[in-house]
Amino acid sequence: MRIWAIANQKGGVGKTTSSLCLARCMADLDHRVLLIDLDPHGSLTRAFGVPTEPPPKGTYDLFNGDSVESVATTTSHACIDLLAAQPAMATLERRSATQPGLGLALLRALQGAAGRYDYALLDCPPTLGLLLVNALAACDRLIVPTQTDPLALHGLEGMLRTAAMVERSRSRPLVRQILPTLFDRRTRSCLETLEHLRTYPGVGVCPSPIPMDTRLRDAAALATHRHLGGRGVSAYRDALQWLLETAPAEQEAA
Ligand SMILES: Nc1ncnc2c1ncn2[C@@H]1O[C@H](COP(=O)(O)OP(=O)(O)OP(=O)(O)O)[C@@H](O)[C@H]1O
Ligand SMILES: [Mg+2]
Repeated sequence: MRIWAIANQKGGVGKTTSSLCLARCMADLDHRVLLIDLDPHGSLTRAFGVPTEPPPKGTYDLFNGDSVESVATTTSHACIDLLAAQPAMATLERRSATQPGLGLALLRALQGAAGRYDYALLDCPPTLGLLLVNALAACDRLIVPTQTDPLALHGLEGMLRTAAMVERSRSRPLVRQILPTLFDRRTRSCLETLEHLRTYPGVGVCPSPIPMDTRLRDAAALATHRHLGGRGVSAYRDALQWLLETAPAEQEAA
């Protein structure tokens, strides 16, 4: 199983949309995908219409030693399972102060599910904390959705600094790739930002930026509609192709 973290410390850059669309495009290629909602806000979980009362089984349970198999939720897509966000995830930060080793809980859980899925996609929260650190410790590669806007560069740079910091405590390198999002090719600042993204050393930039597309705004439709269309989804298909082609650089942990 290959584990891809979709992360950026900046909010609203398309992490959840990218996780969802990449998972759908992977499923169309018959890959078995585990989507993990690591954001206590639970946007991904809501998109799949998972009821919040009573709280579902899901991501938090992994931090109590439960197996992926016992807490994953099936979805309307045969190839996609979901680990739902749970409100208790918000308490993990406090727990980590007294419970050493919590930073590797996700990696351990995913190692136990290695044969069940081809890919695990981690939809990360926009904050630097235990959940993001878990994702960076567990993943084979880091995909940073980055809004093609000059103001978004700070978020990207913060994310790359965090990745470098976590990489020092990993036994294998962390592949980093930028996925430009919310791209409008009519706008000069978008074009200039895209050029700038290509200047970061050692970081691959996806050659097919994801355009602004109002059809990507409806997360529930992206999660549940049987067939997806539009130029946004089509760009995600191209992006996935590029990500798959650059796969050999990965070293699998699970
Ligand atoms: N390519 C796009 N075109 C148009 N709207 C988009 C596109 N990508 C994302 N959006 C919209 O932008 C908003 C933010 O996207 P999303 O929720 O995926 O970002 P996020 O990084 O996961 O945010 P958060 O940090 O809050 O978790 C959402 O309303 C989403 O529907
Ligand atoms: Mg999100």
